[in-house]
Amino acid sequence: MPLSPRNWYFSNRINITKKTVILAFCILVLCVLLLIFGWAWYPNTKFVKDSRIRSSSDRLPLMERYNANCDSCVTNWDALLASDTLTGGELVQYFLWTNHSSCQLSHDFGGIMMNNPSGLAGQKAVCIDKKIAPQPGKCLVYSFGINNEWSFDENMARYGCEVFAFDPSMGLDKHDHTPGNVHFYNWGLGDRDEHDNRFNWTIRSLSSIHETLAPLHGYKIIDYLKIDIEYSEWIALPDIIASGMLSKIRQMGMEIHLDSQDSLEQHREWAKLLRSIEKMGMIRFDSEYNPWFVGNFTQFHLMGSLGYEIAWYNSQLLHVTT
Ligand SMILES: *[C@@H]1O[C@H](CO)[C@@H](O)[C@H](O)[C@H]1NC(C)=O
Ligand SMILES: *[C@@H]1O[C@H](CO)[C@@H](O)[C@H](O)[C@H]1NC(C)=O
Ligand SMILES: *[C@@H]1O[C@H](CO)[C@@H](O)[C@H](O)[C@H]1NC(C)=O
Repeated sequence: MPLSPRNWYFSNRINITKKTVILAFCILVLCVLLLIFGWAWYPNTKFVKDSRIRSSSDRLPLMERYNANCDSCVTNWDALLASDTLTGGELVQYFLWTNHSSCQLSHDFGGIMMNNPSGLAGQKAVCIDKKIAPQPGKCLVYSFGINNEWSFDENMARYGCEVFAFDPSMGLDKHDHTPGNVHFYNWGLGDRDEHDNRFNWTIRSLSSIHETLAPLHGYKIIDYLKIDIEYSEWIALPDIIASGMLSKIRQMGMEIHLDSQDSLEQHREWAKLLRSIEKMGMIRFDSEYNPWFVGNFTQFHLMGSLGYEIAWYNSQLLHVTT
């Protein structure tokens, strides 16, 4: 007769106490294994909680060293971004990070409601704390990248700002958009004034546009600069820094775009560029990943979002110090 597990237990080739010990040991081993795997699978960051976006390694040893998962801890992003062992997952944590305590009241302006997943796309966070809020009746907004979607611009006009909107890709000439106090120009944002022959677009630097429009709005601080220009932000931003225009921007909301084909080093450079404006006094108060724009980063084994809506305010341009 073959030995069934039951027969094995009761057959008297080995005594019953020994078998009980073996069985108990097996159960213990199973429990320990379950605990270990359960822990490894437990999503431990905002990013990996979203089941559609999961990093290939949920374990982030460097991150733990720099306390990046702790809101109230100070994260040493500079050390992290300089690290030899930086991973894609850690880089993404930097893009996702935000300084929650820096703005008490942040409102999203504009955006369109999407499906699958449902949510707002293209919205821009504006900090309306008294210390930094655009002042209705006298605020100035520059908005780059409209793509026939005027909700941000119309809302900022309704809030009480004068809005200058720019987009060379819509086939529209300079005009005033209604409803609202919105002036449209068919210029694109770049690092210099040039003509883009591929598309027949006029590209201009921020400082040059500000200079040209000064007769209309004076040499005023730009209370909110919106940038949503499909990768050209990486070209325009270094010039905004170099030209000194950063010191004339009170708040900035920008969609940054990552490239799933690009290297970890390229992404590190982009992260360092953002870090450099933070070191110049731009305080991040919001970051939202774009769940409709997700990719497989083939060069560093990560599934992740390719777009992040990040907002900053300039700590050197506070209306009142707190
Ligand atoms: C967070 O924001 C506060 C201002 O509310 C600022 O003092 C602080 O330096 C910021 N922290 C980081 C890590 O940027
Ligand atoms: C290029 O754009 C200008 C206006 O911005 C227009 O007058 C001109 O006809 C365009 N050229 C071509 C080849 O489309
Ligand atoms: C991502 O790309 C890698 C390499 O091309 C491939 O092995 C992996 O299966 C892809 N992952 C997903 C989830 O598509």
